[in-house]
Amino acid sequence: MRRVLILGSTGSIGKQTLDVIRRLPERLQVVGLATYRDHKTLLAQAAEFGVRLTGLIEPPHASPSEHIPFVGVEGLCAMVQCAEVDVVVVALGGAIALKPTLAALEAGKTVALATKEVLVAAGEVVMRVSEQFNAPLLPIDSEHSGAFQAMLAGRREHVARLILTASGGPFRARPLETFDAITVQEALQHPNWDMGAKITVDSATMMNKGLEVIEAQHLFGLKLEQVEVLIHSQSIVHALVEFVDGSVIGQLSLPDMRLPIQYALLYPERVDTELPRLRLEQIGQLTFETPDPARYPCLELAYEAARIGGTMPTVLNAANEVAVRAFLQGRIRFTDIARMVEQAMTAHQPLPATLEHVMQADGWARALLQEQKPI
Ligand SMILES: NC(=O)c1ccc[n+]([C@@H]2O[C@H](COP(=O)([O-])OP(=O)(O)OC[C@H]3O[C@@H](n4cnc5c(N)ncnc54)[C@H](OP(=O)(O)O)[C@@H]3O)[C@@H](O)[C@H]2O)c1
Repeated sequence: MRRVLILGSTGSIGKQTLDVIRRLPERLQVVGLATYRDHKTLLAQAAEFGVRLTGLIEPPHASPSEHIPFVGVEGLCAMVQCAEVDVVVVALGGAIALKPTLAALEAGKTVALATKEVLVAAGEVVMRVSEQFNAPLLPIDSEHSGAFQAMLAGRREHVARLILTASGGPFRARPLETFDAITVQEALQHPNWDMGAKITVDSATMMNKGLEVIEAQHLFGLKLEQVEVLIHSQSIVHALVEFVDGSVIGQLSLPDMRLPIQYALLYPERVDTELPRLRLEQIGQLTFETPDPARYPCLELAYEAARIGGTMPTVLNAANEVAVRAFLQGRIRFTDIARMVEQAMTAHQPLPATLEHVMQADGWARALLQEQKPI
């Protein structure tokens, strides 16, 4: 029996994790639930699963609620270290999940990571802590889960290239001159995946793929030139790994996050599931194309940040979090997201990515873009 704690239980990944656990009661047990501020859903989930450990980053009252013992980011850091926890699912929205992720790794817990922003903001620090404390870090992101599975076909040092696929989002064929007029509602119409608002906007700008390139670099210890992106509008092939002999191994499945979540929770075991199965004859066609840089400037910015390294990816991520929030609140245009990220990157003097520098760079970028919310 694996005992699971979920950070971000009220979100899309959090709820799908609970669905996976509901289906496998003999193997998985929820022992902890935490979220940002939705205490009603949190308490309902805690009641359903009989969970004692609950946490909230932003509690409803000034004083800690008696029903929710762990409060604030520091509360979540203490919660993930509790003895009854084996696996911590990290699925909060953004780099705010960094400290609890580090706390879980420092306590030797297995971390199943959905929140890619954590690895973009502080990949070097996180990977070092995972290694130092012998705490496994397993990807939930479908592309990285696919890559992780495909890499098992050979030795890591024999990996030549990793290809991450991208749906291309809802604006793959939209005339470029109309991009300024893209509405929030249009950006939230993802063709293949049903996800939270922030990642859905990131998919439309393709910043999501840029963040995933940086995430993959850290997770798999690859050079930036080894990680490529192809648009694959069917979202069936999630990742392809090319080995030095030219053999390419891919991972295919229907776009359903419950499969990579289950894989991460049970790894290295695989169990039979009732999830819908892939029937290639019903899909018919699998297509691949190179992304157009003019259409996806955020993808280019992410590659640029990764090339510069140090705290530049931290700034890319923080600026993007602020910009996407502003777009979702109707304060800026869709095309301003890339502009704001570029503005922050241009103004930033990168430093080596120590934890201290990462925290400073994150706070600096948020302050620059007028959001005083350091991680
Ligand atoms: N959804 C997917 O299919 C998918 C796939 C791959 C990776 N991911 C990654 O998984 C993470 C979660 O995605 P999601 O789609 O589940 O997001 P979501 O549905 O928007 O849920 C986000 C979770 O984060 C909390 N949250 C809300 N505002 C927050 C803030 N300002 N700071 C931090 N957390 C906040 C929410 O809590 P409250 O409800 O209490 O506000 C909720 O529990 C993201 O990093 C995303 O990139 C998601």
